[in-house]
Amino acid sequence: MENIYIINTHTHVNMLKQNPVDDAVDDLKNQNMIGIVPSSTAEDIFEVDEFIKKYDNLYGYVGVFPEEVKGFTDKTLSDMENIIKNNPKIIGIGEIGLDYYWDKTFIDLQKEVFIKQIEFANAMNLPINIHCRDAHFETLNILKEHNKNSKAIMHCFSGSYEFAKECIKEGIYISLGGVVTFKNAKKTKEVAKNIPLEYLVLETDDPYLAPVPYRGKENKPSYVKYVAEEIASLRGILPEEVAQKTTQNALKIFPQINCI
Ligand code: NI
Repeated sequence: MENIYIINTHTHVNMLKQNPVDDAVDDLKNQNMIGIVPSSTAEDIFEVDEFIKKYDNLYGYVGVFPEEVKGFTDKTLSDMENIIKNNPKIIGIGEIGLDYYWDKTFIDLQKEVFIKQIEFANAMNLPINIHCRDAHFETLNILKEHNKNSKAIMHCFSGSYEFAKECIKEGIYISLGGVVTFKNAKKTKEVAKNIPLEYLVLETDDPYLAPVPYRGKENKPSYVKYVAEEIASLRGILPEEVAQKTTQNALKIFPQINCI
């Protein structure tokens, strides 16, 4: 891959149902794009590890998602460590964080596991990909207190421009996906328009949240280009500039991607 066009920092391409997975990855590759695939549970860290080995334009994260923390044990961390040591394409910890939207009965456990995984990322010297829903300031406060040396990305950023500025003050990157293309996503469009490009990265979070013109259909990783196009039009610049800048940012976060 000579010139990387876009780095999609969050794609669950392994979870596509309506589109064949191989085609979706080929599609990405043919357009000089790279995807990073997160894991969600203490079990699927192994699946992601195996899955990304099959494709040279895919990388991966290992981590346990907030809704899945009941399955997290001390063994999970040693499993993650083994995977990282044996697969140089595992380049971050994710998706990890806090989610108060669905079930608030185990918030304390969510926080405890989030902190353990931040400390683990710090020890491994790897970046973190953060899922945060209805828990913006608590997530940021935990990061301020516990994250010492890992670069961090707020995945599928859903906060206000004010909150984005608070994150950027801490050096945290803002990742935008298909939502920015939705007509009613005023808050996200404001973020896309105003944050410094140096802190922006792109994603799709497919198979969910397909951008316009595919809204409501199954999302695919290559649709990240529609995200870049929308952000470019909001900022009055060319999509190529958004692609180039966000790729530079992603390469700063994930220097291992250079060795494709
Ligand atoms: Ni996700």
